[in-house]
Amino acid sequence: MRVGILTGGGDCPGLNAVIRAAVLAGTQRHGMEFIGFLDGWRGVLEGDTVPLDPRTVRPLLAVGGTILGSSRTNPLADGVEEGVTRIRKQLTEHGVDALLAIGGEDTLGVATALHEAGVPVVGAPKTIDDDLSATDATFGFDTAVQTAVDACDRLVTTGASHHRAMIVEVMGRHAGWIALHTGMAAGAHVTLLPEEEVDLEEVAATVREVLERREAPLLVVSEGARLQGTETVKNAPKDAFGHAQLGGAGEILERELQDRLPGLSTRVTVLGHLLRGGTPSAADRILATRFGLSAVEALAAGELGTMASLHGVDVFQVPLAEATGVLRTVPESRRAETAGLRW
Ligand code: F6P
Repeated sequence: MRVGILTGGGDCPGLNAVIRAAVLAGTQRHGMEFIGFLDGWRGVLEGDTVPLDPRTVRPLLAVGGTILGSSRTNPLADGVEEGVTRIRKQLTEHGVDALLAIGGEDTLGVATALHEAGVPVVGAPKTIDDDLSATDATFGFDTAVQTAVDACDRLVTTGASHHRAMIVEVMGRHAGWIALHTGMAAGAHVTLLPEEEVDLEEVAATVREVLERREAPLLVVSEGARLQGTETVKNAPKDAFGHAQLGGAGEILERELQDRLPGLSTRVTVLGHLLRGGTPSAADRILATRFGLSAVEALAAGELGTMASLHGVDVFQVPLAEATGVLRTVPESRRAETAGLRW
């Protein structure tokens, strides 16, 4: 079997570890051959490929990013039929029997549609946002949270020296997982998520209280937090899947606090793409490796239209469609754990 691998959507630490595991296990256990499609679905549409063999992938375990490149190309933007026809043509020309699509909601949404149209495909879920249904976790998230916590640990010391409120904006789009876990692990005084209404009076009261204790407030705000009733969107074109670019929540929070607490000294740090870069944590290397292994076994067993997924401590395949229907956001039960507490 000849397998084409692609990585689509926003990159994250661990993508290369999936590629490595899939190629090493696929060649050794099942005599598979692999090629890589460059830049996600763009490479599949245009037949832009690179060879993938054990020698190329062995050194990749700890390497961030993706050696295949990524893009937010939507191959079905001009209609499913046209996209499927172009993809089938390229698969035939390159002798590819099946695809391994490594991606998040959008990439796996396309994979689901391709599967329904009869294209042989399996998936592996990735995203720092950790917002995919049908898996307890996606790789990339653990590394992103650790990076954010390291940043907060540094920001609180300089904040304390200057009696300043430090505002840290983190990614996560419509799901607050990165903010929730960063806030908890860094000991933030305020954590603002997209999933809940923001009471700015209460936030200001907390900041005042922390300052009165002669401590420096740390506020973690998710880029998707609805500070003025809606998400803060940048003045930039939407991507091919219709997503607006988020950003600016930290600055809005700063302005709202300064209005309420005259004389307050604040600084905003937007962590942004820092959270997506660098070497994967040990936990992400392991999860990514297990997802790569599971996907290859699914291909060998003909379990097409499935995605590797973590349930408790077990990894197994679930239908692709289960992963992409509904976004996994922070549930009320997780928010209730810390509700009303002063840190
Ligand atoms: O989905 C991953 C993610 O990093 C989001 O957290 C963020 O909103 C978005 O991608 C940023 O995308 P881009 O790399 O296109 O700026």
